[in-house]
Amino acid sequence: MRVLCPAKVNLHLRVGPRRADGFHPLMSWMATVGFFDKLEFERTRGADQAPGADDLTLRCDRPDLPVDQDNLVLKAARALRDARSRRLEGSAGGAGGWTVRLEKRIPVGAGLGGGSSDAARTLIALNRLWQLGLSLNQLHAVAQTLGSDVPFFLHEPSAICTGRGEHVRPIAPPRPRWIVLIFPPYGLSTPAVYREFDRMKLGDAGAIEAEPNWPDWASADSEQLLPRLVNDLEPAAFAVQPDLGILRARIEQHLGRIVRMSGSGSSLFTMYDDATAASRGAGEVQGAFPGAASHAVELCPTLADDLAANAG
Ligand code: C5P
Repeated sequence: MRVLCPAKVNLHLRVGPRRADGFHPLMSWMATVGFFDKLEFERTRGADQAPGADDLTLRCDRPDLPVDQDNLVLKAARALRDARSRRLEGSAGGAGGWTVRLEKRIPVGAGLGGGSSDAARTLIALNRLWQLGLSLNQLHAVAQTLGSDVPFFLHEPSAICTGRGEHVRPIAPPRPRWIVLIFPPYGLSTPAVYREFDRMKLGDAGAIEAEPNWPDWASADSEQLLPRLVNDLEPAAFAVQPDLGILRARIEQHLGRIVRMSGSGSSLFTMYDDATAASRGAGEVQGAFPGAASHAVELCPTLADDLAANAG
């Protein structure tokens, strides 16, 4: 089974002051983008051949990435296996041996949710392959134990996420359907950016309570929408990595167009109403800032993979 795992951008991200549990309350408009990791699930041993040995081996085409139990794909599989054995009261046989191949394209430490997307798509794929029959709500409950961004990917392509990110309300995709993604040559650590956010005493409780009129925002074109978009983590990220703040300002000036950071960085983006303008924008950024990789990609793409093919 071949599965596409799209990256996300936080089109709009408001962040409140740190909660007692260490997380920060959010209000974010998240949308998937046409930049993908790929997962391939292959059964390598039947469930009947080795009772109880429903093991799963992860292989990744990037040798620098850990494929041990810390990888979110394996964490997702383990969490689902636990949910499964609870459901079957431990009495049924194993799910067999499986190999998962991960083609990693989404940069790490980029604020694009690559690991979270891999985890969410693993939950959906294994729910099918292991024939668990868990509902979307049950998968959601598992997803939120894996990370704040994981639940969103069960409800893609466009949603408002609140709480620490786990309350997900799907909304219409934005009218501008093209985005230029810019990957600086360095990543940022999410906990480090949030620590800096606290140190700078940022976070306004009011900012996450007053929600915009989302249908109005979703129907705006890129020139109307871009000036409304905010990312409250930018000052903290630019304090951690000053080069990123400088790069954002220079690209913005070069394009004459608003450029935002996604999540806790380090990736940057701007939006366009059509594919031609986006390709031109990506080319301009690539020519003027060759140290950063620029890609024109679709916002909220249709995921043409084996999960879609088997839907319904
Ligand atoms: O939930 P996740 O494991 O992805 O979060 C990674 C880190 O990001 C947390 O340990 C925390 O430092 C920070 N975070 C936060 N508030 C959120 C989401 C993440 O402080 N709403």
